Amino acid sequence: MVSQVHLGHIFHIAGSPAAGAVSDALVDVPDGALIIDDSGRVAFCGPRSDIPAEYRAEKVFDHRPGFLLPGFVDTHIHFPQTFAGDAYGGGQLLEWLELCIYPAESRYADPEFARRAAAEFCARRIAAGTTAAMVFGSAFPHAQDALFAETRRRGLRMVGGRGIQTTGEPAAAPLITSEDDAIRLTGEEIGKWHAADTGEVGTALLHVAIVPRFSLAVTRTTLKNLGELYDSVRGRGVYFHTHLNENNRPGTGEVDSTKQAYGVTTYLDTYDGKFLPGSATGGKSLLGRRSILAHCVHCQDAELRRMAETGTSVAHCPVSQQFLGSGTMPWKRTLASGVTVAAGTDYGGGDEWLIPQVLSAAFKVHISEPGELGVSMHPAEMLFTGTLAGARALDMEDRFGNFDIGKEADFLVIEPGRVPALESSLAFGIRSDDPALARDQTLFALLMGIREPAITEVYVRGRRVDAA
Ligand code: GUN
Ligand code: ZN
Repeated sequence: MVSQVHLGHIFHIAGSPAAGAVSDALVDVPDGALIIDDSGRVAFCGPRSDIPAEYRAEKVFDHRPGFLLPGFVDTHIHFPQTFAGDAYGGGQLLEWLELCIYPAESRYADPEFARRAAAEFCARRIAAGTTAAMVFGSAFPHAQDALFAETRRRGLRMVGGRGIQTTGEPAAAPLITSEDDAIRLTGEEIGKWHAADTGEVGTALLHVAIVPRFSLAVTRTTLKNLGELYDSVRGRGVYFHTHLNENNRPGTGEVDSTKQAYGVTTYLDTYDGKFLPGSATGGKSLLGRRSILAHCVHCQDAELRRMAETGTSVAHCPVSQQFLGSGTMPWKRTLASGVTVAAGTDYGGGDEWLIPQVLSAAFKVHISEPGELGVSMHPAEMLFTGTLAGARALDMEDRFGNFDIGKEADFLVIEPGRVPALESSLAFGIRSDDPALARDQTLFALLMGIREPAITEVYVRGRRVDAA
């Protein structure tokens, strides 16, 4: 690969700001140049007029009047729900799982179907500009093999792992394995795919996560065994991923059902080694800097404190929370706890593949929180949540997520002309005389208005990823 000079209107969140300070870190370069060196890293990001002399003769890709943004990071998406995004007839979470999702996921038992799904899943990711993702995987090892192989072929980043279930209702039977097989298959997946592309966790695009579906889908023995397995592979950079506190329908919802089934004080305790009655310790914790918990809509303060203390992150999925009637994760309170909050589509709990649509939903639901809880998210905070916060949640902020010099260049070319409503709101929308507010208004219009056709080029580590 030779050096590349990309020209366009650049937005990114520079440095490594605290979640509460991202508006100060917003970089806006209207006539910008992003230069990628021959190793796929950012060599320069700044005004076109300041391109260093040594790059003046390099190949130029002129995307003006387009935009250059960091690639989107989706911290929670379901591969076996590739065809289940608009499933009707389920209602809220537990019934939806039983009536719509377990049957949909069981179809991946057919290897040909699973291969088709892997191709479709990667194509949808590329179309949506999702350069990195935490992927909740299929129960079937052949489907996971298809997903990892296709992800590698396309050159995308992925952390993922097979969905583990060792107990559940009859509809889930095809997805359930014995306790022994659950551990064996997960260990085999780690051995086969963790850092399989480069052989080194610090340079790999592919990583494996340990992914129990949620506490209700596994036994105490499985949680104990997974704790031991995780303890033995944490040092190799393996991840942990699952759901937490999503649906709180009184008595029969996920939160109450979990607390009743385990006899615990908090749902989080079940992932923290305290899965015995009375939240007594029964095994090792699954929490840590490489652990991401999806939803966290109904957390107690003690749960948020423990997540912050262990470096565990939240995948915030407001599109899904609307689709499944799960409620709204309290924005201010969750951020105030110090946990990293990144964005997740939760496709097919959510019906959108686009992280900007998740950010749009976040803006709408959080401005609608009651009274003092309501907040009008800053556009820089939206961009941060969909990019750098995702890299942080994946514990790879040192590698990608923005255009700091030396970062691996994951970026998108956005051509507003491909989406007339976006193009016209950028051209004719109201802009303040105050340059800072005008900049924020432009970024907001961009994030709210992006649709797939506007994402015309997708790059991972400086290499263009093909949609075909
Ligand atoms: N909780 C357990 N499984 C699932 C799932 O597939 N989707 C969502 N949104 N929540 C879950
Ligand atoms: Zn989910």
